[in-house]
Amino acid sequence: EQIEKGGYEHFMLKEIFEQPKSIHDTMRGRLLVEEGIIKMAGIWDHLEKFKNANKITIIACGTSWHAGLIGEYLIEEYARIPVEVEYASEFRYRNPIITDKDVVIAISQSGETADTMAALKLAKEKGAFIYGICNVVDSSIARITDAGSYTHAGPEIGVASTKAFTAQLTILSLIALKLGKHNGNLGNAEFMSLIAELNAIPKKIEEVLETTHELTQNIAKDFIGATNFLYLGRGYNYPAALEGALKLKEISYIHAEGYPAAEMKHGPIALIDENMPIVIIAPKKGHYDKIVSNVQEIKARKGKVIAVVNKGDTQVSAMADYVIEIPETSECFSPIVASVPLQLLAYYIAVYRGANVDQPRNLAKSVTVE
Ligand code: G6P
Repeated sequence: EQIEKGGYEHFMLKEIFEQPKSIHDTMRGRLLVEEGIIKMAGIWDHLEKFKNANKITIIACGTSWHAGLIGEYLIEEYARIPVEVEYASEFRYRNPIITDKDVVIAISQSGETADTMAALKLAKEKGAFIYGICNVVDSSIARITDAGSYTHAGPEIGVASTKAFTAQLTILSLIALKLGKHNGNLGNAEFMSLIAELNAIPKKIEEVLETTHELTQNIAKDFIGATNFLYLGRGYNYPAALEGALKLKEISYIHAEGYPAAEMKHGPIALIDENMPIVIIAPKKGHYDKIVSNVQEIKARKGKVIAVVNKGDTQVSAMADYVIEIPETSECFSPIVASVPLQLLAYYIAVYRGANVDQPRNLAKSVTVE
């Protein structure tokens, strides 16, 4: 096992550090930047199905569901196809409106999650075209779908999903851009600049790992005794906030909630005092001015702000108690980059609390029963 961990203390840390490579592997052979092409057999063969779909429904559980939420933003923005994202466990029991004009995408790292599998079977019975985004090759979900794309992130052993999540976001980005280009919603110049940005993500993650590894350890030390955490983000980074909170609660057993930053005033703001740490994801290209006022509201109530901002940020950084800088990218890819320091932060808080990071209590890597 020590050898498999490749010198890292835990699989989770190893998998966090693998992300420049795993994202690169997800894009390999698919993103041909110089030719200006996205080549994905699963999508390529069924472009008209997607183009003419009444709607796309994404079904998933856990971290994969968070990836699905970002997929909704991506596909609606670039392909202009309506998208709904559902928990598989809800979808399967509520007689959803699905016909043969629907496309249903299941996202699952393991490809074995019982609820996702049952939801897919239901969608298939209703005549939908079903598409899988799985990491494990030849898994049950990969086998029952009509078509799909593997994430190719490599085996993920840590129960808390890290590299599979960023690989799912990469696949969803490729799908959205491919469909957008095909549908004519995404002009050539914008398409070319987005694919160049996407191609640069592994390098940016390398940089993030270098610049935030020690920093997140230092921040983590100050929050070992925390009992609650809030994670806030807007737009594409609202699901990133949900995922940041999930990582923390899964492995450190600290209660954490993710919220869209503007919803703070409808509830969570009542919880804010000097004991409440609040992680704010605030890249420059994501409703930045609105986030600035959210941070002002938090500081007026003495909350402790840990801000994830772009390099060179001034406004949010001036108010924050802790600043984590990440390189700039297009708004739609910012959750991929922003998620990495949040994974590290959750990891180190859990490690310093003495938790079993790779196998947290009560959780399973793959939930194959209901
Ligand atoms: C379990 C795992 C999570 C995962 C979820 C969905 O809860 O602990 O990490 O996100 O299942 O799993 P899947 O394999 O379908 O992505």
